[in-house]
Amino acid sequence: MKRSVRIKIISMGNAETGKSCIIKRYCEKRFVHKYLATIGIDYGVTKVTVKDKDVKVNIFDMAGHPIFYEVRNEFYQDTQGAILVYDVTDRSSFEALDSWLAEMRNEMGNQVEADNITVIVVANKIDRKRVVDETEGRLWADSKGYQYFESSAQSGQGINDIFQALFEGVVSALENGGKKIPIQTQLGYTKDQIEAIQKLKNAKSDYDRLGLQLGATKDDVNKAYRRLAVLLHPDKSVAPGSEEAFKILVAARTTLLKKCS
Ligand code: GTP
Ligand code: MG
Repeated sequence: MKRSVRIKIISMGNAETGKSCIIKRYCEKRFVHKYLATIGIDYGVTKVTVKDKDVKVNIFDMAGHPIFYEVRNEFYQDTQGAILVYDVTDRSSFEALDSWLAEMRNEMGNQVEADNITVIVVANKIDRKRVVDETEGRLWADSKGYQYFESSAQSGQGINDIFQALFEGVVSALENGGKKIPIQTQLGYTKDQIEAIQKLKNAKSDYDRLGLQLGATKDDVNKAYRRLAVLLHPDKSVAPGSEEAFKILVAARTTLLKKCS
């Protein structure tokens, strides 16, 4: 006989990122173009089979708009899984991810419980012209230890993968006595590499990019260059963004060497 379990899932993320559409696409296999803001919270139930278990899934689809905070804040308790959604065409929705995690932690109260929630980061609306690239999204998710998926609720792309990963994560945690199983990072790259890439991409000056002070000598520049080149050479590094960062590195070195002479 199959054992049956109940789980609680929530959706988080800014208003209009597509949370309700993602859930609707998964549960009802359809898409609604017109924006119908969720008022406070929507509740739904679905049944799935995960790892040979019948699972009754309670879905609490939250409203992203700040005015509904007072309504949704009561629904964080006892959550086991969450989709944390941003819209790849809207940078502010990506930048808001940290504040959603903060709200969740705050409302959960119990930090151990919060740490054991399976969170899936969802980059939605990939059918449209994006302003947040895949690398940024993946890096953010990796840095939190969450799985990352891209989706289009409009076309259906990626939707099943999100929920499969979510349910498997939650059920695995349940089987493990409520403790989340750390995700297998398919990383193959190090934190040093990630930090070097972010620095190269975001620094304000070429000196900053190479970690040098104003007035650095040719020798300093070449040393810094070699250290970073070994870390980021696209033939060796599989860290997302390596290729772009490497190009920035080469350009920064060229500029700085000219300044030194
Ligand atoms: P709140 O309930 O207010 O928090 O918003 P929400 O995150 O639930 O957004 P909702 O699912 O209602 O979708 C917002 C708008 O984005 C709607 O007009 C949808 O049609 C549109 N939308 C959602 N997903 C996609 C997508 O993958 N691609 C495109 N092009 N549009 C989408
Ligand atoms: Mg909604």
